[in-house]
Amino acid sequence: MTTIQSLLQQWDGESTVIRHDRPSGAFIIIAIHSSHLGIPSGGTRMKMYPDLAQALQDAHRLAQGMTLKFAVAGMKRGGGKAVIALPPDFDPGGRPNLLRRYGALIKSLNGAFETGPDVGTAAEDMDLIAETGAPHVFCRTPANGGSGDTGPATALGVFHGMHAVCERLFGDPALAGRRVLLQGVGSVGRALIDLLREAEAEVLFNDIDRGVVDALRDVPGIRFVPAEAVYETPCDIFAPCALGGVLNQDTIPKLRCRAVAGGANNQLAEPADARRLHARGILYAPDYAINIGGAMVAVSMELDGLSRAEAEERVKSVRGTLLHIFEVAGQEGCTSEEAARRIAEARLSRP
Ligand code: PHE
Repeated sequence: MTTIQSLLQQWDGESTVIRHDRPSGAFIIIAIHSSHLGIPSGGTRMKMYPDLAQALQDAHRLAQGMTLKFAVAGMKRGGGKAVIALPPDFDPGGRPNLLRRYGALIKSLNGAFETGPDVGTAAEDMDLIAETGAPHVFCRTPANGGSGDTGPATALGVFHGMHAVCERLFGDPALAGRRVLLQGVGSVGRALIDLLREAEAEVLFNDIDRGVVDALRDVPGIRFVPAEAVYETPCDIFAPCALGGVLNQDTIPKLRCRAVAGGANNQLAEPADARRLHARGILYAPDYAINIGGAMVAVSMELDGLSRAEAEERVKSVRGTLLHIFEVAGQEGCTSEEAARRIAEARLSRP
């Protein structure tokens, strides 16, 4: 059984802060994985979990992903992540004050952790967190002086990454006529659909939310795929853009795609899944290498003072990073995940 104690003992990160927020019943977890390359930074995920151990495990894995993400991209940032695990009877009316108390907790860490949005939080929430947590909060709304939601920028990076995938697979980066299947149409997936349609790709999608599917009914040229057919449907690129763990020993044998390239964090359920994809001849764009766009634009605009256009220009680097990863994997006969990890670890091991 996975216990909180063993999770805390076995994690290779620097520290874990856990706060029980009595007024709301939520648990706030701040996982600080590595400060080696810079201030540990990562989004705040807010959702319900079956239990605290699963929330903690998610925070730990996501924080490690952030360390790898910044290292692979060559950015001077460390990795961390926050999870706000809501109780089953959470009263949404208590959300603003919960976020303000969370901001105060961040502030008390004195710059040891900086945050932005993630699944379950948006720019408006960053405004509330920043009321007490500034200056350690990215992505406030533009009206409040922030760079806003990260979904479109993450989608842009994934889109450039897909070009790298096509270049590697077909010797041609163009997406025109390529069939891309999106699993999940949240803030990243929605923006990605627009980019793909503009590039004349054939777009297929699924989302578990009926309302999201209905809202997409009138978008021309995209096709809904029912959840039970998501993995089996033939396509060139399968793009996980929802939650993690979707590539596992049950789903990988079903896949009928040439490549996996999507915006979700922690797509592999376990490290062995990278080998499983490799053995099936499926090219995998490591999640932490392809989904840096959101954090990259936020940091570039808010810390480096770049305009949005200049920050988006920087996101084009995702393409070169992935081509390099694929090349190293080819040369060394390892999986793309191993290649990406080696590149990250080389940067992380420099004093
Ligand atoms: N959700 C973003 C990610 O996973 C988190 C983030 C946003 C981190 C903005 C830093 C700044 O990359």
